Amino acid sequence: MNPNLEALKPYPFERLNTLLDRIHPPTQLNPIDLSIGEPTYLASSFVRNKFQANVHLIQNYPTLRGNLELRETIKSWLIKRYKLDPESLNVETQILPVNGSREALFSFTQACVDVSKKDPLVLMPNPFYQVYEGAAILANATPVFLATTAENNFLPDFSQVPSSFWDDCQMVYICSPGNPTGKVFTRQKYYELLTLSLKHNFIIAADECYSEIYQDEANPPIGLLQVAQDFGNTDYKNCIVFHSLSKRSNVPGLRSGFVAGDEELLTGFYKYRTYHGSSMPLPTQQASIECWKDEDHVLANRDGYRKKFKEVYEILSPVLELEMPEATFYLWLKIPIEDDEKFAQELFRLHNVIVLPGSYLSRVTGNRCPGSGYVRVALVASLEDCIKAAKRIRAFIQSM
Ligand SMILES: Cc1ncc(COP(=O)(O)O)c(C=O)c1O
Repeated sequence: MNPNLEALKPYPFERLNTLLDRIHPPTQLNPIDLSIGEPTYLASSFVRNKFQANVHLIQNYPTLRGNLELRETIKSWLIKRYKLDPESLNVETQILPVNGSREALFSFTQACVDVSKKDPLVLMPNPFYQVYEGAAILANATPVFLATTAENNFLPDFSQVPSSFWDDCQMVYICSPGNPTGKVFTRQKYYELLTLSLKHNFIIAADECYSEIYQDEANPPIGLLQVAQDFGNTDYKNCIVFHSLSKRSNVPGLRSGFVAGDEELLTGFYKYRTYHGSSMPLPTQQASIECWKDEDHVLANRDGYRKKFKEVYEILSPVLELEMPEATFYLWLKIPIEDDEKFAQELFRLHNVIVLPGSYLSRVTGNRCPGSGYVRVALVASLEDCIKAAKRIRAFIQSM
């Protein structure tokens, strides 16, 4: 077997299962699981109907590029959402459907890391979505972690990266809006990174899968392609964005997303995929077209999360230093103790609420683990359960 497999860390949910394995929570309290980033709203009926109406298409192999209608719909969505030049994205070469952003975040790195160069580095935030690290390791690159903490406003501080690293850096993953912190990259932060990318010629892989879950309706998160265009990088050189319907349209099981950006990178990625072989099933493509065309269900979705945040904030802010996230459905909760595993265990044992220890989403660098002393709370349960869970967390904190 590939020896790099040994270097992969157990996934956070495996660790959480082990952590809570022998604990028996009070059965008179209903279990509330806020550990997983899986939306529990029902997908809109129009999406399910469209999928069902097209099930007969499974008799055909889908092409890797996906139907033109899908790519054109995605292009229109991108242009409207990020105010891009309508001429700027070529649907033949700059947009590819993928089976969820996760597989693309992984496979893109396999296609892009150039192992003929010495010591390839892949930079990523810390805490982070675990796929970035695994993708770098399996591509024979070394992951480099950039702490995102309260001190740097939870955004990577590129000025702290030793200058020698930039020469070997082949790719930087960014996640905006960020899982788990809910932070959105500022324009200035994007400019800094774009400048470095053009100077040292590395790829920016921007995970934007939470772009549509945000608090301020008048202020949607900006994205990499938009800033690249405003920066004068109208070909999106070195830029690639990863988008998904999973959170936007509550269809994590549909496995539908896309990548867009730099033509040269996507040409290579397309070639890789002809062998990797992950084309999107045709009923999925049809349902995806409907999703990208409609914003009403996305608006309703955001409203639902806003209500939850408002209620939960009111319950928890008297007992915790709490910052409302700009986007995503996560609360990155600074807890009163450093031991986030113990916090999660006791919260489960006493109150039957499951949250994810922050240290499971981060790596120790130097002698510090940026996720320690935090837990990630995903407001994915019903409003009623989110309120109940917040009250239980408050009672738990007050009893500490
Ligand atoms: C930051 C981040 N990126 C990517 C994904 C993958 O989502 P999907 O493969 O459903 O598009 C997730 C899923 O939770 C995530 O949290």
